[in-house]
Amino acid sequence: MTQANGNSSRNGATASPGRVLVLTPLLRGSSDGGRTPAARLAEAVGLALAINLTVAHAEVVRLSRYTPATLIGSGAVETFKALVEAEAVDLAFIDAPLSPVQQRNLERAWKCKVIDRTGLILEIFGERARTREGQLQVELAALTYQRSRLVRSWTHLERQRGGFGFLGGPGESQLEIDRRLIGERIVRIKRDLGDVARTRGLHRKARQRVPYPVVALVGYTNAGKSTLFNRLTRAQVLAQDVLFATLDPTMRLVRLPSGREMILSDTVGFISDLPTDLVAAFRATLEEVLAADLILHVRDVAHPETAVQREDVHAVLRDLGLGDAIEHTMLEVLNKIDLLDPATHEQLRRQAGRDARVVPISAATGEGCDELLQAIDRRLAATREVLDVRLRHRDASIIAWLYEHGEVLGRRDDTDYSYLRVSLDPADVSRFQRLRSDAERPDRH
Ligand code: GTP
Repeated sequence: MTQANGNSSRNGATASPGRVLVLTPLLRGSSDGGRTPAARLAEAVGLALAINLTVAHAEVVRLSRYTPATLIGSGAVETFKALVEAEAVDLAFIDAPLSPVQQRNLERAWKCKVIDRTGLILEIFGERARTREGQLQVELAALTYQRSRLVRSWTHLERQRGGFGFLGGPGESQLEIDRRLIGERIVRIKRDLGDVARTRGLHRKARQRVPYPVVALVGYTNAGKSTLFNRLTRAQVLAQDVLFATLDPTMRLVRLPSGREMILSDTVGFISDLPTDLVAAFRATLEEVLAADLILHVRDVAHPETAVQREDVHAVLRDLGLGDAIEHTMLEVLNKIDLLDPATHEQLRRQAGRDARVVPISAATGEGCDELLQAIDRRLAATREVLDVRLRHRDASIIAWLYEHGEVLGRRDDTDYSYLRVSLDPADVSRFQRLRSDAERPDRH
């Protein structure tokens, strides 16, 4: 799971959501893009685990047709009623879209909270949204979801659930949410989103002035992004630059083997079959990735759907505006190799030997992590600029800085000056220029 997130207490919903029954309803004979029922169920369980629920029971429910009142048939409703009681289930997660009436009927039958796929994903995004824009987009999606339920079920429901935490609150909230209030809140959020979009450009500019390359982790939920983030940052006790006091905990300064430093940034995980209403919210949480110097695509290579997931990630990043730059800005991290059989393991190692864009690792055991850091170093070095600079001997501290941060490719000295050819990260080029202009300032007088 991603590290502690200050937003999770926003609605108190994540304090202790409890024991969950996970059901994946599937129509008999329907195909699901080649995904097996077992894979669908495993993903549903993964979603539940993403917000720290304890899975009491998980099952694929095969249906010959959808039942309007409860989605699943009355026999299945009865069977699970017994299970909910026996297993002390607090929450049932139905991995499908539920109508408000179906949700209410199931809650009545089982005497526990019921949540559908959109509701659960909204909970995950609510916990993970970091930027102001991400938070607003998630709230907007949550309100729109809730309002659509109000409209459709207005005449049926005496009471509505409260807040945005669909898991939160004591059962059906006592608080009746009025459509007008939701509408007003939506208008306000849309206005705030407009403001955020206007200031976003400014923030990006500020970020570009951060004098370190930014490396972003992306990948499917459960691929191991947070495990890797923690492994790469744990060993490092860097004096945090004052700049970083304002950055959030999903960003850390990491020193690479060459001595170069980078900011490592974690992002929200991809989810397969993302409900379309949630696409905008998801993308807003990924905005940061666009400004990254390098993207680490973390893949769970032990996952049966790993190839499909890879294509999804590429498609979304392309749509986000990365276009053909993907190949140049991405390093593929083949995670969980400890789970592979020796033959597949060896095959991946050979592939990595041929292709510098892939690095097999195990974030859990640490295998391959040194090689990954070296690969990141090389990739960042490839974007370096080569400068020819002339510095006075008395600017020894700047010369020392160049040796520390760049690679000095050649040097010649005469009585007054040192002439250096040096390769630097783009971020360091602007740092260097600032250092030099500061040093020159007194000469103007
Ligand atoms: P989200 O936070 O949901 O986006 O997921 P994530 O991509 O951050 O994955 P996370 O780091 O939470 O890891 C998911 C699960 O995979 C955890 O149970 C980890 O312990 C496990 N895991 C991560 N890396 C490895 C690995 O290299 N090998 C094995 N065997 N398990 C791993």
